[in-house]
Amino acid sequence: MKYFAGVFLLVTIAFPRNNLLDAQERIVGGDAGSIENSNYQVSIREYNEHMCGGAILNHNTILTAAHCTDGVRPGILSVSNGATIANNGIIHKVEKIIQHPKFNAETFENDISILKIKPPIKYTNSSEPIKLGTKRLKPGTNVKITGWGKQSEKEKKSVLGSKPLRYVIVQVVNQTKCAKDYEEFEPKIYDGNMCASAPGKDSCQGDSGGPLVSGIGDARRLVGVVSFGFGCAHKKYPGVYTFVPSFLDFIKKHM
Ligand code: ARG
Repeated sequence: MKYFAGVFLLVTIAFPRNNLLDAQERIVGGDAGSIENSNYQVSIREYNEHMCGGAILNHNTILTAAHCTDGVRPGILSVSNGATIANNGIIHKVEKIIQHPKFNAETFENDISILKIKPPIKYTNSSEPIKLGTKRLKPGTNVKITGWGKQSEKEKKSVLGSKPLRYVIVQVVNQTKCAKDYEEFEPKIYDGNMCASAPGKDSCQGDSGGPLVSGIGDARRLVGVVSFGFGCAHKKYPGVYTFVPSFLDFIKKHM
């Protein structure tokens, strides 16, 4: 049984765009929000269809997950910003993908990528950069996750960008506990990860690459990037995020 589950998980996360497990689970227990309240959020598009989330770091730099860009040419990607409904946003070309050189598609280690876009993003109430987090948060800390990802198994990928952005508050999970929760599985939980969960609340398929943010107002910091999970909002398995403070050198080098 364990073996089967492990294989199943591996297969699932090896093909994030066709994620069976995620698709079977119900997501997220979030609410519809407005882009003004999460104005650092962008939609990353493949052939102009929503594929992943991302966050604005500056006028021409977007942070996302490496599993969203792995094996993809910049020419088929674009970024949409400034709209509660992703399909209504301002479209930018992706000029360059800077994927973490040590991203491992089997273990999901170093699941982080930077996009350079053109034209530059104009800052408004609906579009602003987010500052990078620098330290680990205490277990139990409230953090906000946002995205256009799936809310139910029936939802087709193609409708995701036509609905309003959703948000949910979850709590940081103790790192050792999260590593234990996932110990039977590949991928493992690394120092470059963090975990967060709340009963019935989680990120899910289509939220990948999107922001996990701590604090409010001027204290807002980007601490995580949606990476993977065993299903979505599964009781025993927290959502797993790339831990941004572990990658500050890589990020700043390309900003
Ligand atoms: N891998 C998914 C994606 O590509 C994100 C999964 C997040 N899962 C979770 N349980 N938090 O969109």
